[in-house]
Amino acid sequence: MDSFQAQHIIESLRLGIPPEGYVRQFTVGRTKEIEDLIKRLQVHNETAVLLMANYGSGKTHLLKYIREESLERNYAVSTVTIDSNSGVRFNRMDQIFGAVCRNIEIPQSPGQKGLRSFFNFLVGEINKKNDESIWQEISNNWKWDYSEVLNSPAIFIGIRAWATGNDKAADIVEDWFFQPWQYKAKLKKLYTQLIENLRPFFRDPRPDWKFYTDQVFTFDSNGYSQSWAALSDLNILALYSDLNGLIILFDEFEDVITNLKNVAHQEAAFWNLFHFYSGKKYFGKTFYAVTPAFVEKCKNILLNKGRWDFDFSLFDKLPTYEMSPLTTEHLYELAMRILETHGIAYNWEPDLEMKASQLLKIINAASLQTQDRARHIIKSVVKALDDLYQESP
Ligand SMILES: Nc1ncnc2c1ncn2[C@@H]1O[C@H](COP(=O)(O)OP(=O)(O)OP(=O)(O)O)[C@@H](O)[C@H]1O
Ligand SMILES: [Mg+2]
Repeated sequence: MDSFQAQHIIESLRLGIPPEGYVRQFTVGRTKEIEDLIKRLQVHNETAVLLMANYGSGKTHLLKYIREESLERNYAVSTVTIDSNSGVRFNRMDQIFGAVCRNIEIPQSPGQKGLRSFFNFLVGEINKKNDESIWQEISNNWKWDYSEVLNSPAIFIGIRAWATGNDKAADIVEDWFFQPWQYKAKLKKLYTQLIENLRPFFRDPRPDWKFYTDQVFTFDSNGYSQSWAALSDLNILALYSDLNGLIILFDEFEDVITNLKNVAHQEAAFWNLFHFYSGKKYFGKTFYAVTPAFVEKCKNILLNKGRWDFDFSLFDKLPTYEMSPLTTEHLYELAMRILETHGIAYNWEPDLEMKASQLLKIINAASLQTQDRARHIIKSVVKALDDLYQESP
């Protein structure tokens, strides 16, 4: 780490969180849980996992840890924050698909979120046109009339249009996949821009009406079947281009209880969770950040609303990880890492000025704050170091 990087890290820690790409360096404790989670990344038939920790106890932090670890292990990753109030509802698979597309990242360009890097990367692979290539299978020998491999006709059309190199088509594909529900009244536009205008590039025998009657552009009919197929295709495309697949991280998953008001929608959201778990509609890995009371709360909601028939045992099948709390020793270790980084950032030796007892005092004082303790400690330690640095000769 050079002083420039260290300054960047300290700036982020001033707000209480380590910056993207450095989360693992500023993680303490939870070694057993983390080891276990990393094992899950190496196993193939793992699907959904619930990560449980109390408010402000490191759920988001752990998802960021998994994100970094997954990118390093050659997975595409998408981190989605569930928020019913701003249109990311877990019962709406079209919204989930859109959110996954908006947030997807690949190991080749971490931090660049959105479908663009992923599709450019795929098209780069496609254009190698190796005879043995699996893309031959996807594109039916580069004729692009149909695909044996892809499940979603929309993804097929999207990637095919992208592969033509037409910028305008790429912009439309991106916007369409980011918010498929906005295109329900713009089917003609999709047809014209992504098929009709690009016909010289491929052979597609279908007339325009066929695209409409087959609901090729529709993501929300038949139980969101195309949304599921499209999500699953993103995973397949990742696998076919030599990534290890797609991992989806769902933060603030408790939203399905707190913000989804309608019990039918809640029930649909729970079913979607179980579908992810069963791996039939989407066989990639997914992680969900929740508080320890999550499963109990879900059951209570269903019972209170008279849903006696619901198979409650489904909840108990979900693999869960409950995070052990961070001890004072862990927090001290974290403070020491911050101290070291501050020294590199501003080229001084804080360990000569700051005694261990002082550091402990800061940690203990900040620990009195029950809400968001770790974050408060990080901010307090950086502030104390900033003050000391100002005063140092
Ligand atoms: N294992 C850890 N090592 C170091 N710092 C951690 C660890 N876990 C959490 N933190 C830090 O603790 C603070 C709170 O963590 P985080 O925001 O992840 O909690 P949360 O459970 O997502 O909170 P919320 O319930 O508000 O969503 C952050 O500053 C985070 O960087
Ligand atoms: Mg959080």
